[in-house]
Amino acid sequence: MNILGVNAVYHESAAAVIVDGRVIAACEEERFTRIKHGKDPQVDNPQELPENAISFCLDYAGLRPEDVDLVAYSFEPKLRRTKFQAEWWPDSRLESDFLLHLEKVGDSFAKIMGRRLGRNLKFVPHHLAHAASAYYPSGFDRSAILVVDGIGEADCTFLARGEGGRIRAIEALSYPHSLGFIWEHVSVYLGFSSHDAAKVMGLAAYGDPNVFRRTFAAILRVDEQGYSVDADAIGFRTVEPRNLDALFGPRRKPDGEILQHHIDVAAALQDATDAAMASLLRRLEREVGGEQLCMAGGVALNCVTNSTISRASGFSKIFIPSAPHDAGTALGAALVVHCAQEGAEPPSGGASPYLGPEYSEGEVLAAVKAAGLPYRKCKSAARDAAEMVADGNIVGWFQGRMEFGPRALGNRSLLADPRRPDTRAILNRRVKHREDFRPFAPSVLAERAKDWFDMGPITPSHEFMLFACPAKPGLAARIPAVIHQDGTARVQIVRRAANPRYHALISHFFERTGVPLVLNTSFNDSEPIVCTPSHAIATFHGAGLDALFMGDICLTAQN
Ligand SMILES: [Fe+2]
Repeated sequence: MNILGVNAVYHESAAAVIVDGRVIAACEEERFTRIKHGKDPQVDNPQELPENAISFCLDYAGLRPEDVDLVAYSFEPKLRRTKFQAEWWPDSRLESDFLLHLEKVGDSFAKIMGRRLGRNLKFVPHHLAHAASAYYPSGFDRSAILVVDGIGEADCTFLARGEGGRIRAIEALSYPHSLGFIWEHVSVYLGFSSHDAAKVMGLAAYGDPNVFRRTFAAILRVDEQGYSVDADAIGFRTVEPRNLDALFGPRRKPDGEILQHHIDVAAALQDATDAAMASLLRRLEREVGGEQLCMAGGVALNCVTNSTISRASGFSKIFIPSAPHDAGTALGAALVVHCAQEGAEPPSGGASPYLGPEYSEGEVLAAVKAAGLPYRKCKSAARDAAEMVADGNIVGWFQGRMEFGPRALGNRSLLADPRRPDTRAILNRRVKHREDFRPFAPSVLAERAKDWFDMGPITPSHEFMLFACPAKPGLAARIPAVIHQDGTARVQIVRRAANPRYHALISHFFERTGVPLVLNTSFNDSEPIVCTPSHAIATFHGAGLDALFMGDICLTAQN
């Protein structure tokens, strides 16, 4: 049985494929088109399918379009029609436009697959797809499930329980009760794009959450059952967040100066989010219990919230997939359809983040030669790269299969020395062109993580850079480049079995320096993470990296 899963309804367009109960591949469309997030969420484009990601997944699995038995699309138009109210839009005519374009999804698939799919095209409710993307790969039998994002068909938060391979709803909170939308709205108020929650999260550590705590409570009210959002207070239905100007003071213009009240708003938002999520978890503890929890939805990318709530709750085993945001629903929808088959077991292979394209040495060399660049072949790329990082160089590390999800986890990464206080500024100025207030993350040997960071209970999701962990007393000063303003680091633990080459690199760095971690940031410069050797070479050149390792092939700047 061959199942293709697709997310295309809003943004983070992506595809995934399951063959005979095994997750074979998953990838975001942005990596191929070089357009961040795949596309903007517009009413006129839910039928624009991630054609590149789909053909990658099928090629990787050795399938032709006619070999695909079932196709899953992570949005259910029928549910949208019954649950979403057109007056929620600023202009209610937008909804009929959206529904009209959703009807074209079948035509778009017919074009790509060379036939009409009919009943073999399955529309999977968005939040069920999110829930499945966490629950089935988690390996848990019995688990509480929490999905929190902007919006699916009409729901913004979904509480469920997983048991014996089945996901059962407990409750869904519909619009306007959307934590994801609050983050988008506040991001725009702070002069960033609606996609820039990560910037707001970085900024929050510098602010005082108390300044706007009470004002924020007018927007986001936390109660016993979870939380509610006052749509009029935040002004969801206005295109511009002008209500926030009245509540918090003048917004920041894009690229304008960041003022203290902007930073305090970010801090209050982070604090209110932690409180709302903690309340949802307390409810799941009461209603589901146990120690296992699966989380998904864009809000599950918030490392600070994940850490805060995991420490405060009774759930000690937490699974969040590497792609908890909308891209992950491509895999989740395929998983739902797979598990709906008679007698199906949850598929294997879905917990690994390394589900994207990989390139042979021949393909790497062809790209290097096409670029006319000198290169050498290393005996040990891991050792050579570790030495270069320890000498203060910025190194591109391009290995194996690309990560599925927004974080580079050692296969499409830029690496630097965490010990040097100036590493952050050099990376920001020379390579990444990003704001100084944003933290850089460490990749640490799994067996040493507890020596350096207060990890709490370690879970498989600690391999996906999803938790902010305080550095152990006295150690932060030794690794200043990866410690954020609040004394935490967004730790990625690296197990030898999960990524042997990356583990070897960090081990060599540890042997030489006594520090079992390197700084890891995504391999890109203000664009989607690199996918192919040619992308990597272009960024190596454009961003002025000191070296680039692709498999065993090494390019250095002085060559
Ligand atoms: Fe979503």
